[in-house]
Amino acid sequence: MNQIKLDCMLNPLAAEVVRIAAAIPGERVMDIGCGDTSIALARIAAVVKGIDLSRPMLRLASQRAKSIQGVTFTQADAAVVPFAQSVQLLFSRFGVMFFEGPIKAFSHLHSGLSEEGRLVFICWQKPSANPWMSLAGRALQPFLPAPVSPPDPRVPGHLPSLIQLM
Ligand SMILES: C[S@@+](CC[C@H](N)C(=O)[O-])C[C@H]1O[C@@H](n2cnc3c(N)ncnc32)[C@H](O)[C@@H]1O
Repeated sequence: MNQIKLDCMLNPLAAEVVRIAAAIPGERVMDIGCGDTSIALARIAAVVKGIDLSRPMLRLASQRAKSIQGVTFTQADAAVVPFAQSVQLLFSRFGVMFFEGPIKAFSHLHSGLSEEGRLVFICWQKPSANPWMSLAGRALQPFLPAPVSPPDPRVPGHLPSLIQLM
């Protein structure tokens, strides 16, 4: 399953970004594009709401979080999700790079952040800044059939298909 491969690759990065986020017990956190990071933040005793558009991702996160206190999962679009209460930390591991209207989406997220709140996320830079990821694909390109349409790097699933290429 791709998520297991992704977790192996991303968990070291996630550990660092969770450390930088410096959540404290009792803080309200929204994890955008949820998963293992929601669990890691809840282990610090933050009150975590993991949101995702994807039911399979939510199902997997809920299964993994069965024995963890303080974390809930909801299907929602981060760009428009209603905030019943402001949050102190907006967090994301590779979940905020798919917004169709980033300015609108981030403005909305800002409206749900408390005054002293913070946004901490990790996302990819362009392929040329990630040769470890793009080099193998480029080397194989001449031997592969042309894609039906050019891959959109913002589309979920793009990353796993690159990993399979490698
Ligand atoms: C690359 S995955 C990362 C998932 C998880 N954070 C992780 O690191 O394993 C991106 C996730 O963001 C979710 N996502 C994309 N756009 C979203 C949005 N507007 N609102 C909520 N989730 C979104 C996708 O459904 C997908 O599960």
